[in-house]
Amino acid sequence: MANLVITIDGPAASGKSTVARLLAERLGASFLDTGSMYRAVTLAAIEGGVDMSDEEKLLSVFDNRKFQFAVREGRMAVSIDGLDVTEQIRRQEVTANARYIASAVKVREKLVEMQRQFAAREKKIVTEGRDQGTVAFPNADVKFYLTADTGERAKRRQNELRTRGGLESLERIQDAIEERDKSDQDREVGPLRPAEDAIVVDTTDLGIEEVVEKLLRCVEEKCLKRDQK
Ligand code: DC
Repeated sequence: MANLVITIDGPAASGKSTVARLLAERLGASFLDTGSMYRAVTLAAIEGGVDMSDEEKLLSVFDNRKFQFAVREGRMAVSIDGLDVTEQIRRQEVTANARYIASAVKVREKLVEMQRQFAAREKKIVTEGRDQGTVAFPNADVKFYLTADTGERAKRRQNELRTRGGLESLERIQDAIEERDKSDQDREVGPLRPAEDAIVVDTTDLGIEEVVEKLLRCVEEKCLKRDQK
């Protein structure tokens, strides 16, 4: 297992991914975007015409397709059967269907196992998702939970979508975010919630760099205390 594990959980568009990537860069750690794993399985299930409510069929996706996750130019690059799908997994259809994959118990178990295998290969990792501090890495060195109010998260998501030509209204984006929050929080396995020992950071009024600095200070403080023990 990596000798430094930092988890960042939080709702959609709370800035987790960018913050995790930058924090990893500052710490010389590897970055794991676990949402991209759920998205990759969703894409494979859509392509294979798999019934999303059939867990066994969803699991068979792992036998039939080869998933690869690698950090490239600081980002999580995803390929299925050797084909780069990094852009495709961000499609609206994938985002909308990921909730089915996220509630499939056995699929979650398999992905958590893959996340732990990733950690076992690395020296330091910053991993982000919904259940990283609660389920995947309950003994992580530092756990964060990032949040921001829904209006702010909708604005951030709109800006991100615009860079890819998306023209959706703020209202529609906010509705979709609220729907995803609900499905993430109500899920029976790996629901979205802060770990008891997580440091909760509200990023509504903070810029990305400010959040990264704040997290970095917490990591330094916590690790310093740990090393002094
Ligand atoms: O963070 P994201 O939007 O890329 O996540 C995509 C989907 O995967 C979303 O429906 C939540 C789910 N997810 C999850 O259930 N557990 C994780 N650790 C990461 C993502």
